[in-house]
Amino acid sequence: MNLLFEKGRIGRCETANRFVAQPMEGNCAEPGGAVSDLCLRKYRSLARGGWGTIVAEAISVTSDSLARKNALVMNRRNLDGFKRLVDTVKTENPDAVLLFQITHSGPVSNPLFSERVCVSPGGEGRCLATEEIERIRDGFVRSSLLAEEAGADGIDFKMCHGYLGAEFLRPANTRADGWGGSWEGRTRLLREGIGAIRAGRRSERFVLGSRISMYEGIRGGCGTAAADDPVEDLSDMLRLLRLMDELGMDYVNVSAGIPAKTPVITRPVRSSELMHLHHLRYTRAAKRTLAGIGSSIQVFGSAYSVLRERAVPVACEMLARGDADFIGWGRQTLADPFMPGKLLRGEAVDYCASCSGCSRMMIEQTHVGCILFDEHYKTYWNERR
Ligand SMILES: Cc1cc2nc3c(=O)[nH]c(=O)nc-3n(C[C@H](O)[C@H](O)[C@H](O)COP(=O)(O)O)c2cc1C
Repeated sequence: MNLLFEKGRIGRCETANRFVAQPMEGNCAEPGGAVSDLCLRKYRSLARGGWGTIVAEAISVTSDSLARKNALVMNRRNLDGFKRLVDTVKTENPDAVLLFQITHSGPVSNPLFSERVCVSPGGEGRCLATEEIERIRDGFVRSSLLAEEAGADGIDFKMCHGYLGAEFLRPANTRADGWGGSWEGRTRLLREGIGAIRAGRRSERFVLGSRISMYEGIRGGCGTAAADDPVEDLSDMLRLLRLMDELGMDYVNVSAGIPAKTPVITRPVRSSELMHLHHLRYTRAAKRTLAGIGSSIQVFGSAYSVLRERAVPVACEMLARGDADFIGWGRQTLADPFMPGKLLRGEAVDYCASCSGCSRMMIEQTHVGCILFDEHYKTYWNERR
């Protein structure tokens, strides 16, 4: 277990250990996407719990297209709330590295309360015009610079899980206006977005990273070789890692799948536990590719919750073999936000039962938390049944 408690480095930020609290949508923002007390409660617990790196949940660059009714939205009006979130974390644990996940929901937006838009002609939702895409790119840049102003240590430029960023990358993105088709077109959002954030950030210490889905499990999706091909081929995604290195990025958070379509890939449950092996394979492939070019990009692994207490030895093995630099837990952070500290002190941990309660809450658009171990959400959920 010692390896998990070794200090690490992401860009110019030192981390206290190798534990990463993965981004988990709480769907509990105030109207307009402002940080709420419930939101602060969650991040206070994670900071107190000793996670070396905390990736704050998906924060939208716009209010127009949202996957969750009560999603966080980054804009100047909401900036004070985000400053409070940073203060809350840093007061509780000054050593925690806090990253904000910046996103646009695109085809995953819910038409019941927002507009579903997409990149590819014939995709799910209204196909975005070129000028709209340029505005969205600028939104990613503006939101990331606001994240720095709020005091976050860095960003996660979200390119995973079927959200707009991932749709750009797909071989199925056949747009002909320079925002699709060729490799340059499909990676343009990341290249221009990261380029502008790098140029605009106040400090070189501000960490730049991205979460990607190595393989989405759909025809023409990320991790396939052609628009009409469903079979896994990681060539493009490994090329993306080399591009991230060229862009001077600091980390990649390796995930997989599209929760709305191929959830069994993104978040294995007990009956599909072996799917976690794919995540280990993707993380190893990322590490080997980056090692091959002498890159210092740090690699985070995902989908450890299903392993419960067995996650710790698996995580240590991945670190020991050099197959990962950081280990991320998602649902486990809701089940027991205090896990790292408890492990260090030898205390009992409440392990995620992979009951899918939190996923159901997210789908039903309620606030999201653990309905087994968190008394607040247990009561909240039971009252709604
Ligand atoms: C309720 C819920 C909310 C999530 N929210 C996000 C999110 O905001 N951003 C993201 O990249 N992934 C999100 N995920 C995916 C998790 O970060 C994680 O990748 C997934 O749950 C698998 O990891 P685990 O097995 O440790 O839970 C979410 C998953 C769940 C179940």
